[in-house]
Amino acid sequence: MKKIGILLSGRGSNFAAIARNVANGQIPDACIAVVISNRPDAGGIAIAKELGLNARVIPSKGVAREVHDRAVVAALQEHKVDLICLAGYMRLLSPWLVQQFPQRILNIHPSLLPAFPGLEAQQQAFAYGVKVSGCTVHFVDEELDHGAILVQKAVTVLDTDDEHTLAARILEQEHIAYSEAIRMVLEGKYEVVGRRLVRTVTAKEV
Ligand code: GAR
Repeated sequence: MKKIGILLSGRGSNFAAIARNVANGQIPDACIAVVISNRPDAGGIAIAKELGLNARVIPSKGVAREVHDRAVVAALQEHKVDLICLAGYMRLLSPWLVQQFPQRILNIHPSLLPAFPGLEAQQQAFAYGVKVSGCTVHFVDEELDHGAILVQKAVTVLDTDDEHTLAARILEQEHIAYSEAIRMVLEGKYEVVGRRLVRTVTAKEV
C-alpha cells in the first residue's frame, strides 16, 4: 500500500478528486496518509477532516521558508509518505525540501507548460489569446513549474469563454489528469530520459 501525502493551500478540489479515485480503486493500492495545509482556513483541510483523514495545518505566514519546510518534511516523514502531491499548494518549496524527495513530488499546474508558469495561469492564457490551453502534471524540481512532464490535457478556448468558464473546464481536466499521473508513478512503469518521461511496457503487455 503506497502512502500519498497531499500539500494544499485552498479549496482542495484536486485533492478531493484524488481521494475519490483512491476510494473507488482508480488509484489502486494507495492511501492518503496525511493532508497538510499552510493556511488554517483552507477548504481542503475541512474536506480532509470530513473524510476522516489525517489533516494538519502548518502555518507559513511570517515563517522563514526553510523553517516551515522542515516542519512539513517532519510531518511527511512521520506518516512515511511514498509520494507527495502538491494540489493547489501556493508556496514555493525550498531546494532542500525538493532534495529530500527526488522524483517523488508531483504538481498540477493549470496551463500547458512551459506556457504560462506562475500565478493565475488560466487568466494569463486567456488574456494572451491562446486558442488551446489545459493543464500539466509534472515532477517538481528546484525551478518553478519546471520538472519532467507526466500528463497534459488540452482544453479548447471558445469564443464564448471568459477566464472563469475557461478555468472551470481546465479544472475538470485537472481532476482527471492528476489521478492518471499518480497511477503512472505508483505503477512505476516509466523512465525519465532527459526531460522526457517515457512509458515502459513489459514483454507480456506488448
Ligand atoms: C488548481 O487550478 C491548480 O492547478 C492550481 O491551483 C488550483 C487549486 O485548486 N495550482 C497552481 O496554480 C499552482 N501553480 P484546488 O484547491 O481546487 O485543487
